[in-house]
Amino acid sequence: MKHFIENLPKAELHLHIEGTFEPELMFAIAQRNAIAIKYKSIEEIKAAYQFDCLQDFLDIYYQGAGVLITEKDFYDLTYSYLQKCAAQNVRHTEIMFDPQTHTERGISFETVITGISKACNDAKENLGVSSLLIMSYLRHLSEEDAFKTLQQSLPFKHLIAAVGLDSSEKGNPPSKFQQVFEASVKEGYIPLAHAGEEGPAEYVWEALDILKIKRIDHGNNSLQDEALVKEIIRRDIALTVCPLSNTALQVVDNLKNHPLKKMMGIGLKVTINSDDPAYFGGQVNQNFIAIQEALQLTKNDLYELAKNSFQYSLLDTVAKQQYLDELDNYYKDNI
Ligand code: ADE
Ligand code: ZN
Repeated sequence: MKHFIENLPKAELHLHIEGTFEPELMFAIAQRNAIAIKYKSIEEIKAAYQFDCLQDFLDIYYQGAGVLITEKDFYDLTYSYLQKCAAQNVRHTEIMFDPQTHTERGISFETVITGISKACNDAKENLGVSSLLIMSYLRHLSEEDAFKTLQQSLPFKHLIAAVGLDSSEKGNPPSKFQQVFEASVKEGYIPLAHAGEEGPAEYVWEALDILKIKRIDHGNNSLQDEALVKEIIRRDIALTVCPLSNTALQVVDNLKNHPLKKMMGIGLKVTINSDDPAYFGGQVNQNFIAIQEALQLTKNDLYELAKNSFQYSLLDTVAKQQYLDELDNYYKDNI
């Protein structure tokens, strides 16, 4: 199974680039930017990665991102993640970035997007990994602030496929961002959002009906509302599930109790993702391996999950079909 997973062609659809910041690279970049960080060693950093809830994690995650200053920093961060994609047979990835985490500190939007997108171009060329970018608004900030970010993004619109919504969910419902999402869609961005990770099923309804999202990030709490589940299936919208994130943030107490198999069983379309791999103990393949073991997933289940990852990506139909053919060939040869 491990071998089958490692070689399985797949896409990653829920990944925060700031969440790929491994302690080793964080130290190196902090040093070259002459920024002091409060941890003395990699072991000390790793020991701090114990979270009771989403907010606990976010506090540490925003601190880590604070050492990113130059275009090269964003390039190195992104290229390092894309190399891991290549090593794991992640053929395509849809990368979220949080511009406000950086523009708030005086880093220009241009620096962030240029570093990230140059790494994506180089990875396509050198590693054969394709990618699309998702600009995520921070939901703990105001809608006005999100509007500023939308404005800043416009000169770089051709580099960005979609908008997302992340950060502290409780108390920050999707409806808070109705207008900026409408404006973003008018600019050609595809609307996506985190919903139902810690927040209630009601937030998932809002994300669907008010923000008109095309994919749900997490969506675990959708299961609390049968009518909602039916509606997600009717609209053919996928949930990007993140098993190791869910246990690290105590959204799920134990992987054996993870609702993934139930989701699949009732007809929800789900994908497997790492969310913030540097913080939650594993890249996408480790997520696949851990959930396969915990829920005794079959090769057919794994194939289904990989198929969804291409099917519900934001790629055009031609590119999707190429990846789906590659997956089908792999499955036929390895069943
Ligand atoms: N930002 C990075 N990871 C996140 C998550 N799992 N939920 C909300 N915001 C995030
Ligand atoms: Zn996320």
